[in-house]
Amino acid sequence: MQAVRLSLVAAASLVRGTRSFAPASRNAGARSFAAPAGRSRTMSSMEDAGGVVPWRERIVGSIAKSRKIRGGNYVQLASVDESGLPRVRTVVFRGFAPDGCLKIITDARSQKVQQSKHVEVCWWFSQSSEQYRFAGELAYVGADYPDADRVALRKQMWGNLSDNAREQFFWAHPPRGAFDAEPEDVPKGGRAEDTGNVLPVPDVFLLGLLEPTSVDYLRLTDNFRQMDTAAEGAWAAARVNP
Ligand SMILES: Cc1cc2nc3c(=O)[nH]c(=O)nc-3n(C[C@H](O)[C@H](O)[C@H](O)COP(=O)(O)O)c2cc1C
Repeated sequence: MQAVRLSLVAAASLVRGTRSFAPASRNAGARSFAAPAGRSRTMSSMEDAGGVVPWRERIVGSIAKSRKIRGGNYVQLASVDESGLPRVRTVVFRGFAPDGCLKIITDARSQKVQQSKHVEVCWWFSQSSEQYRFAGELAYVGADYPDADRVALRKQMWGNLSDNAREQFFWAHPPRGAFDAEPEDVPKGGRAEDTGNVLPVPDVFLLGLLEPTSVDYLRLTDNFRQMDTAAEGAWAAARVNP
């Protein structure tokens, strides 16, 4: 592993000019973005001469390379608790929502749900030696969330879960309570005993949608670092010192 040179002053200085482009989710096909001269152009490959690639494009390759790695979709989710202290835990990345948000799932009884909605997710790709840090706001979508599309997405996610994963949402014991060794009456696989059908979505099941506002990318193989920042509906990307 190559050493990463850290310099706060240097990190602030941009090596190349900033490029801006529309959010990936709203511009699925060929993208146009403001060229350095202010001209609008369309590119089939998003990589510029300085190696800057919009994060949403780049991560497709990173995910593909780590697809077969066990744990390749585990990410670290950091939030801040009511005392202002940092909290971090592993969660499973469950894909991108149609609007580009990162999807996770969790239990409404877990601590994170009470904590800051401003979060950071850190994702290490061991195959390609890349780190992505997503900062943004995390929305927890339950049954009463005021957006029908998101509620539908939650329902769809519930149906797509493995039986094992589904079962956990029927655990009756309070998280972090004293250990309870008594077996609980949990419907096997989160399914109805008689029909085997998936049970309706329980209230405690939450879909988490992280809308990133900045993505800090670092590749250790050549100490390449890039900052993508969203502002007023558009992303800007620039190479920075690592
Ligand atoms: C590999 C792994 C994957 C996990 N995936 C999830 C997940 O997708 N969602 C989740 O809420 N917790 C997941 N957990 C459990 C969390 O790390 C954490 O213990 C739990 O969510 C309670 O955290 P909290 O009390 O800070 O909310 C996972 C743990 C591990 C080790």
